[in-house]
Amino acid sequence: MTTALPQSVRITDITGRDGFQNVKTWIPTETKKAVLSQLVEAGVTAMEATSFVSPKAIPQMADAAEIVAHMLENHPGVTLVALVPNLKGAQRAAECGVRHIAYIISASVAHNKANINRTHEESLADLAAIAEACPGLEITLSMPTVFGCPFTGEVMLDTVLYLLDESLKRGAAKITLCDTIGVANPVQVKHVVRGVLDRFPGRDIGVHLHDTHGMGLANTFAALEMGIDRFETAAGGLGGCPFAPGAAGNTPTEDTVNMLNRMGVRTGIDLEKYLRAVATVKDGVEAPLPGHLHAARTYAEFSFYTV
Ligand code: COA
Ligand code: ZN
Repeated sequence: MTTALPQSVRITDITGRDGFQNVKTWIPTETKKAVLSQLVEAGVTAMEATSFVSPKAIPQMADAAEIVAHMLENHPGVTLVALVPNLKGAQRAAECGVRHIAYIISASVAHNKANINRTHEESLADLAAIAEACPGLEITLSMPTVFGCPFTGEVMLDTVLYLLDESLKRGAAKITLCDTIGVANPVQVKHVVRGVLDRFPGRDIGVHLHDTHGMGLANTFAALEMGIDRFETAAGGLGGCPFAPGAAGNTPTEDTVNMLNRMGVRTGIDLEKYLRAVATVKDGVEAPLPGHLHAARTYAEFSFYTV
């Protein structure tokens, strides 16, 4: 039996945020801007480009305002998202002209505490405060550790559903389910996505997968089979949360696009051009790139497989 997959999916490229945040050596702001512009040239239309977090927590994100200014000035057509952890972050983002934020509340209370020093109740209270203080912001509830926590292991689907429900009541419009440490498996992805879809029918739901155990693409396919059509991915498989021990990179955008292309699912991203952006990352960013396609060298030769 052939499974009906979505004909097209929306990629939110998160190279600028998740990709860069875990790189220990400072990436010059000009290098970041160059990479982000190349991603846009490759067809990326939605991007989480930076985060408005404490520079003490994540020094690499200290240039958030400059990155936002670059994007708004040079790529006004791109849907620009910034991650924020609290009211202060949302206010900083709004002052810079950001209109879409990803607000994080971890499903695991232990990770929420380690990551943003908050209880669930404090995070929910801040969300309500953001919705009131910044009514022009579209809020996506981006939930880390949905599929497992580095400190406490298994995460209950009921906890996820409760927090999502409370977040939607407080002004979140969209949901992104994040496998922060990359421990999900495809059966689990289907189970969790089914639970969330059943509870919140018609809601815009995306997934954010890490490839720690090599299941990023398998999990992507599992979500796709459930009808999910929004995915967060990063160039070269860069990425990871510094406050989640053991977390490895995101599912690579180029590997995701390659798989989707070959299955006839459109993304709007030009792979050849995207691989040029990955090459810039390789040259300008001191971090290993675990993705497959950029290292394969055979992409051009085998491109006849592309639908
Ligand atoms: N942006 C910039 N600075 C911020 C900030 C923000 N969004 N929120 C708080 N700060 C500053 C405060 O002004 C204060 O500065 P000061 O020491 O100069 O007075 C300092 O940070 C401490 O503020 P406080 O509210 O007590 O924060 P905290 O120490 O409890 O840390 C967070 C909470 C959320 C700010 C911090 O844990 C954080 O930024 N985490 C982000 C983690 C992350 O990005 N993870 C990866 C993505 S999943
Ligand atoms: Zn992540």
